[in-house]
Amino acid sequence: MLGRETERADREERQRDQTGAGSSLLQKGLPFAVAFAAGFIFGRRRRGEPSAEGEEGHLSEAASEVREKATQAAEGATDQPGSMGSVSGEEAREEAREEDREGEASESEAGEEDVEGAQPAGTEAAGISEEVADRSPPTAHGMPMLGLGTYQMEEYDECVEAVRQAIQMGYRHIDTAEGYDNETAVGDAVVEAEIGREDLFLATKVSPDNLDYDHVLTSAEESLERLGVDSVDLLYVHWPMGEYEPTDTMEAFAELRDEGLIEEIGVSNFTVELLEEAIEASEEPIFANQVEMHPLLPQTELRQFCAQDDVDVELVAYSPIARGDVSDVDELQEVADKHDATPQQISLAWLREKEVTAIPKATSEEHLRENWLSLGVELDDEDVEKIDSIEERERIVDPDEAPWNQ
Ligand SMILES: NC(=O)c1ccc[n+]([C@@H]2O[C@H](COP(=O)([O-])OP(=O)(O)OC[C@H]3O[C@@H](n4cnc5c(N)ncnc54)[C@H](OP(=O)(O)O)[C@@H]3O)[C@@H](O)[C@H]2O)c1
Repeated sequence: MLGRETERADREERQRDQTGAGSSLLQKGLPFAVAFAAGFIFGRRRRGEPSAEGEEGHLSEAASEVREKATQAAEGATDQPGSMGSVSGEEAREEAREEDREGEASESEAGEEDVEGAQPAGTEAAGISEEVADRSPPTAHGMPMLGLGTYQMEEYDECVEAVRQAIQMGYRHIDTAEGYDNETAVGDAVVEAEIGREDLFLATKVSPDNLDYDHVLTSAEESLERLGVDSVDLLYVHWPMGEYEPTDTMEAFAELRDEGLIEEIGVSNFTVELLEEAIEASEEPIFANQVEMHPLLPQTELRQFCAQDDVDVELVAYSPIARGDVSDVDELQEVADKHDATPQQISLAWLREKEVTAIPKATSEEHLRENWLSLGVELDDEDVEKIDSIEERERIVDPDEAPWNQ
């Protein structure tokens, strides 16, 4: 999206660097089996934590609710690696719209305004305060470092409304996936928000069932169709499992990039070892790895690896507020009190300090605004130290099939 020329130069530089990283790995002769075994050792859940049932191996009531909702949700609308299916193109688009027509609220005044450029429709009409409108996140090679997650926004109306509202507030990075069953709604929200395509960073993901060469190509085209765009800024391998095979999968991603259907290649839920392997297998640079990260899961090893000059992979944090659980942590509450902020805002500000992109999911206007205003929270060294010293660990998305559990 932003500064295409700079992005291209960045990309070329990253490609040169990662080529170097790949060959240094070859020199090291690191066999994948050994690397994978290392992932097993480093990535295990903490002893004494309950084992995952389904997606989340997690204790809190809030998360149980989330899990219950997820179980009840329609098939295919999931972040679980085992059960992601693709949604059939225009059919799903039409169905979703059809359902939504009934009882649809009257057109908002906001949607009728004709606004140019980066300013989305109806910012003023939507009552966006100056405090909100004045904020904008830093960018990493053109990717806004605060975005909106959309997992579990399966209900068409809710998703359109949340994404539209988010864009009006200033969010310019939207994260979806073919497995979320909401690409149509996301695409429609972008149209409703009347934001220029070039002003939005749009990311989606290919499900594990669709990761062989041919399926990647078909799946990506279907995602573009549902989103109603010619290209996405970032396409991720959602999980390194199912049909994932490094050379085959990455070759298809490289082809999509060559054809201009995707700007950047991403992976998700990759351990250090899997990331090393993917970098080595990929003809094109890998731009980002999307993983769970928050103060209760600081991903120190992965962060250090990705920051190396010859790796240079952006980290994107999913579940960046631990689905609300950060509010139970005393240290985060103390830092929040000091800044007259909330623990959720502190968690997002801490990720920014770590130079990690965050994509909190929020449907309510209150949460969208609160998360956006985290951009005004500046942590000092003492705050960061206090947060870094938190010993409690929690991994929310922890299916048994996850690479770190093998
Ligand atoms: N790559 C992957 O495998 C993967 C896995 C999981 C997630 N993701 C991506 O990452 C995004 C975010 O992760 P997530 O949805 O798992 O968790 P999250 O963003 O940490 O938490 C979302 C939950 O927190 C609530 N919330 C949002 N802002 C809040 C605030 N300021 N105060 C209190 N509660 C707040 C939301 O409620 P409301 O909706 O009611 O506002 C929602 O229930 C997903 O939506 C998805 O795009 C990717």
